[in-house]
Amino acid sequence: MKKLLLIGIGPGHPDYLTMQAVKALQRVDVFFFLEKEGRGKEELIHFRSQILEQYTKPGRYRTVFAKSPPRAADRGYAVGVRDWWSDKADIIAGLIANELGAGETGAFLIWGDPSLYDGTLSIMKEIEARGTPQFDYEIIPGITSVQALTAQHRIPLNRIGESITISTPRQIESTPPEEIHNTVVMLDSNASFERLAERGCDLDIYWGAYLGTPDEMLVAGDLQTIGPQLAEKARQARADKGWLFDIYLLRSRLEGDRD
Ligand SMILES: C[S@@+](CC[C@H](N)C(=O)[O-])C[C@H]1O[C@@H](n2cnc3c(N)ncnc32)[C@H](O)[C@@H]1O
Repeated sequence: MKKLLLIGIGPGHPDYLTMQAVKALQRVDVFFFLEKEGRGKEELIHFRSQILEQYTKPGRYRTVFAKSPPRAADRGYAVGVRDWWSDKADIIAGLIANELGAGETGAFLIWGDPSLYDGTLSIMKEIEARGTPQFDYEIIPGITSVQALTAQHRIPLNRIGESITISTPRQIESTPPEEIHNTVVMLDSNASFERLAERGCDLDIYWGAYLGTPDEMLVAGDLQTIGPQLAEKARQARADKGWLFDIYLLRSRLEGDRD
């Protein structure tokens, strides 16, 4: 039976890999790279290549590169994402059928953890439901960017008895400010926190960009005070590097937190 490993590699630094991930890397015959076009692509491939250099023996495996299909923006977000996953399922099914030999093990190196804002697990279900090609797969969990953020800011993710929400800019911009208590925002492409600051939201922000990489940036403080400057910093970073991965925790202040 052909086998596919979906290996969580953490959010940037090669030391973020777990021992389970390192052992999994060493079982792989074919590493598949399915990368989006656009700026940042080379750097993201470079991070993965560094991991292979550090943890695998040269000559032990093949690498196969494929182009990730574009996501259509004209059919609504949810439909667009589902169609995109379906297109990716076609490509991945083709890779398994044509690039992986009988009894071989292939792998995708998944940024962070495969269960968090990553379509690969849904794509696997779709390929399984199609019934062909036949293969088995295994998931190796990874450190998420959420954990990298809280570790670098030296904060717990939750406070006593409080829920944790993980959200997107689309959701957070339409959430009433009084309902935001402890929310991590991912996939921001446009400094959405700036709009929250403009709406007078009384929140602290713990922001991190390019966590675990040599370009790591960390900022924390009162959103209304630092929001506009931070938004400028995020825009500048995106302009300078051509891409930005940032994540932030928005936290309401509890009684006694105020000066
Ligand atoms: C497609 S999601 C993948 C998340 C990933 N599976 C994880 O476990 O963190 C990409 C988003 O994760 C966050 N992210 C991933 N890596 C990051 C990093 N090194 N620094 C800051 N944010 C990161 C950003 O919000 C980015 O837009």
